[in-house]
Amino acid sequence: MNPTQPRRTFLSTVAAAAAATAVLPWAGCKPSEGGAAGSASEGGIKVGEFCSLTGTEATFGVSSHEGTVLAIEEINKAGGVLGKPIQLLHEDNRSTAGESVTIVKKFISRDKVVAVLGEVASGRSLEAAPVCQAAGIPMISPSSTNPKVTAVGDCIFRVCFTDPFQGRLIAEFARKSLKLSRVAVFSDVSSAYGDGLRQYFTDAFTAAGGQVVVQQKYSSKDKDFKAQLTAIKAANPEGICVPGYYNEVGLIVKQARELGITVPMFGGDGWEAPELIQIAGGDALKNTYYSTHFSPIQDTPEAQRFVAAYKARFNGKVPDAMAALGYDSAKILADAITRAGSPDPAKIKAALAATDLVAASGRTRMDAQRNPPKAAVILTVEDGKFKFLQTIAP
Ligand code: PHE
Repeated sequence: MNPTQPRRTFLSTVAAAAAATAVLPWAGCKPSEGGAAGSASEGGIKVGEFCSLTGTEATFGVSSHEGTVLAIEEINKAGGVLGKPIQLLHEDNRSTAGESVTIVKKFISRDKVVAVLGEVASGRSLEAAPVCQAAGIPMISPSSTNPKVTAVGDCIFRVCFTDPFQGRLIAEFARKSLKLSRVAVFSDVSSAYGDGLRQYFTDAFTAAGGQVVVQQKYSSKDKDFKAQLTAIKAANPEGICVPGYYNEVGLIVKQARELGITVPMFGGDGWEAPELIQIAGGDALKNTYYSTHFSPIQDTPEAQRFVAAYKARFNGKVPDAMAALGYDSAKILADAITRAGSPDPAKIKAALAATDLVAASGRTRMDAQRNPPKAAVILTVEDGKFKFLQTIAP
């Protein structure tokens, strides 16, 4: 991407599509200047979504955004909220630091959004959260798991589990299912997510009687991990925990296998992306495991309905965890606006705190810290495909 290229705010195509078919009060709106996009939801209730549609974690942003778009389309087709459509504004932060603050400030001061949706990566949610908190605008992160995100203040919510839970469940899986006692931890120190999960995993694994025999570090965008992997190999661990995101994780798994390291490798939701398989290769991913929020084979009626609707909307693409949580973040917001009976951000915030809704990723109820306890799933890779192993209750 050209860094000097101006960012654009896209009016969502969502309500346009809905209004084209439905007989709704706002269906006859004139297209806005500059194109067909989003016109039908003009005059609607504005919501801003910041996301990583391009750059290093593009898969996260694209999946999450698609889920959000689908939800808003469904909401608007069913009549919107408070008799109005939701007008979704979204903007790409290109997976880079610093952009999210600018985007969210603009959403709040220029566009006058009533709420903000975003982000997947904890680091970028952590950038935007203080801006929303200071302005009193509720922000819902679909899938940021680092505890610090919602700790920013009472305007900040998430619709996923947190990393203390995820670190514990990975540790338990490693101890009980993989029967590991001595492991290595090789973590991304450049992301709030990777560094947090390293700590929570280590605490839980040692509390469960395991031992971390070697710790190595890397940073986002590193490409060569052989030096650290050689040090890990020398310590002869029974498994390697890699808290990080799919780009580096893919290369780490690949290079580990090239060095003859065959022990199980495992991590958290940051592994989740179809690219993981492309980067590492299906063979290298044998004997790897990760925890995440959602599997398309989950058999609740809401999950199945979501999977079918997402496939129909996005050319047969199977939704991942980011898509399910992006979808749920918008459904949960719409539910809160409806219960608030008003688009007033303070009232929406109070309604969000009282959320209890079953959607694609399961049941979401906020605890007092605005963190919903939710189940996790463990996936593995077999024959070059992700495979569901087990569900772990909150
Ligand atoms: N939980 C990760 C973070 O906080 C983001 C993520 C969510 C990645 C879901 C993949 C799937 O940064």
